[in-house]
Amino acid sequence: MTNERRVSLQPTDVGVYTPGITRIEQRILCDLEGHDQMFVGLDKSEWMADYSLKEHSMNELRAMRAVSRALGRKQTVVDLAGVAGLGHDLGKLRTTDYRRNRKLTQDELVVVNKHPEFSGHYILEMMPRVRRRDRPFLAHLFFPVRFHHEPFKIRKKWLRELGFDLKFIDYYQSRMESRHKPGLSQFQAIEKLEKEVEKLKGLPSYSPFAEEMQTSLSAIVNLYGVNSLIPIR
Ligand SMILES: [Fe+2]
Ligand SMILES: [Fe+2]
Repeated sequence: MTNERRVSLQPTDVGVYTPGITRIEQRILCDLEGHDQMFVGLDKSEWMADYSLKEHSMNELRAMRAVSRALGRKQTVVDLAGVAGLGHDLGKLRTTDYRRNRKLTQDELVVVNKHPEFSGHYILEMMPRVRRRDRPFLAHLFFPVRFHHEPFKIRKKWLRELGFDLKFIDYYQSRMESRHKPGLSQFQAIEKLEKEVEKLKGLPSYSPFAEEMQTSLSAIVNLYGVNSLIPIR
């Protein structure tokens, strides 16, 4: 049965994160690196060529795990958080207008901004290709990935919390990456994130979740930077 087929990850640069890798992570990485014959339409050449997306996804994987661990979540949730980080932007590989190293036009941006939807499709399409026991994991994974730009839409609290982590880490990490020129320092990125979260707290759709957002922000600040609101003398 193809569903039961096991895959093995070859040692490549993306596969450096092998210790503790989950089966689903392995599956996604195999898809991306083309070791898996059941490749489902991600443009793997873009992934291989696009260092910034690869870098961004792997950074997100590590940060999501670290934040979840710091918040004392159980191991299955930490695993879910990591895979959500890895997979959240893969939909970009399905937006045909996505090209690296150049400024996108307004129309192209509209398409690229739909990437969470495509990332969600990718997760759902994996469903028949994984072992039956991994399917609930994918069903949960769908939510933080699909709604990583608008986590307030997720109804289950524990999944919504992962959605907020993802959104904020995404914001923080990407400010430091070279695609935002000039990339900010860690402290500048934390400061920007704090301001962004303050702004979100004032929006009607986000304000009911102010407490959850604060928990997520505090974990990120504690892990990655000094709270910019405390002046350094
Ligand atoms: Fe995204
Ligand atoms: Fe992202």
